[in-house]
Amino acid sequence: MDREEAIESIEANVENRNLIKHMLVTEAIMRALARKLGEDEEEWGLAGLIHDIDVELTEGDMTNHSKLGADLAREMGASEAVVHAVLCHNEVHGVPCETKLDKALFCTDPLTGLITAAALVRPDRKLAGVEAKSVRKRFKEKSFAAGARREQIASCSEIGLELDEFIKLGLEAMKGIATELEL
Ligand SMILES: [Fe+2]
Repeated sequence: MDREEAIESIEANVENRNLIKHMLVTEAIMRALARKLGEDEEEWGLAGLIHDIDVELTEGDMTNHSKLGADLAREMGASEAVVHAVLCHNEVHGVPCETKLDKALFCTDPLTGLITAAALVRPDRKLAGVEAKSVRKRFKEKSFAAGARREQIASCSEIGLELDEFIKLGLEAMKGIATELEL
């Protein structure tokens, strides 16, 4: 499966624009992480891009979410490494994150929400003016974007990244696609 096929499949299965943007952001950060860590950028990007493809199909049923996504990824011809990363990003199944790719997707998923929220509280509601240090401050405010699980974001240490480094990389990656995100 290449990126174009993945996008086609997303458009066929996901209506919510914000969910599609979340997947594009996750892709961008995963690509940046792969570049930094010397991993396969296409593969890591693909895992990020399709990881929530089943959210609307499963209608919020968390016991099915990511299981169906993993099946879909396999059907589309994704590598088993991508399939596993998709599956274990939802902890409900008790499938542990084992590989670097698994762990990268797991910590990246909630970071997107934290950074997006940090942009949306600005008067201009734009990413451009967001600084890494302000995201870091928001990280410490537990009630801010509470759904963005801090512990999960901080698990970036499992792939050898300091939190500050991870936030900076994520923010830069998001700024790189800000136009597409209309953010
Ligand atoms: Fe996600």
